[in-house]
Amino acid sequence: MGREDFSETTYMLEISDPMMAHVARAGQFVIVVLHERGERVPLTIADFDRERGTITLVIQAVGKTTRQMQQECRVGTRLFGMAGPLGKPASIGGVRKVICVGGGLGVAPVFPQVRAFKNAGAYVIGVIGFRNKDLVFWEEKFRRYCDEMIICSDDGSVGIKGLVTKGLEMSMDKHADTDRVVAIGPPIMMRACTETTRPRKIETIVSLNPIMVDGTGMCGGCRVRIGDDVRMACVDGPEFDAHTVDFDDLMSRVGRFKEQERQALERWTNNGCNLRTDCNRQSS
Ligand SMILES: Cc1cc2nc3c(=O)[nH]c(=O)nc-3n(C[C@H](O)[C@H](O)[C@H](O)COP(=O)(O)OP(=O)(O)OC[C@H]3O[C@@H](n4cnc5c(N)ncnc54)[C@H](O)[C@@H]3O)c2cc1C
Ligand code: FES
Repeated sequence: MGREDFSETTYMLEISDPMMAHVARAGQFVIVVLHERGERVPLTIADFDRERGTITLVIQAVGKTTRQMQQECRVGTRLFGMAGPLGKPASIGGVRKVICVGGGLGVAPVFPQVRAFKNAGAYVIGVIGFRNKDLVFWEEKFRRYCDEMIICSDDGSVGIKGLVTKGLEMSMDKHADTDRVVAIGPPIMMRACTETTRPRKIETIVSLNPIMVDGTGMCGGCRVRIGDDVRMACVDGPEFDAHTVDFDDLMSRVGRFKEQERQALERWTNNGCNLRTDCNRQSS
């Protein structure tokens, strides 16, 4: 396993798995298990390299398991398990001009789509947003595949000052012939992008992140409301037509285990998390 830290809370893991790298496609995700009794964590495939046989995950340490992974997943360690690739690949063909918007950590999952659209011959405009310049990552990676790019920051310390919706508006004003917008990030940001494109009737795709358990469509944990239908994000998505997504429902479901998540983090912290080194140490 390879690793790079982007900030105090965000880190990248590069995992050797030639079979997974061979079949992975933009828009898909994996479910990772750190230890034998560890919980299942869905993570988007942020990059893959078929020649080197690796997939890349970019992770934000928000709770117990993502913090434990931050502490224990070092160069040369292994995960207990990883299932995937899961979910439907993004649809890439038939698009001439696309704006790909990534907000915060969402910058990572939108990258494989940027590359796939470019390789399919589309004109690609990247709009990526961060709170400030210290949190910027993968700028060069994006510049390699984007025909145009706008960086946005909340405090104006890099690029234009403002949210990604400002960069999105600017891009749509300049490119009235945009076929599609892809927006990935926290639900609140995806909803804001959805409302920005709705009046212009531009097809908009978002990648939903409800709580997932099995990732196979069996448990019902990840159900989302899409228009009049109920869909399972793990098998019917995670990408959906943004203008049909019920974001209020998504946001209320994502927060429903907050108390249990808080307790799990507290138990782990009280058990001396900093002293534990029980991650499997075989190199991979
Ligand atoms: C399809 C998909 C792709 C994702 N891709 C990424 C990614 O590339 N990088 C990244 O950092 N995060 C990603 N996430 C979110 C990530 O799965 C959660 O941050 C992680 O599970 C939190 O676990 P925890 O124990 O650290 O935190 P907890 O304290 O358990 O949870 C913190 C928050 O994370 C979310 N969460 C918790 N458990 C799950 C779960 N089983 N499924 C989904 N969300 C959960 C909830 O919003 C919760 O409030 C993705 C989620 C989905 C559904
Ligand atoms: S995670 Fe169980 S149905 Fe999707």
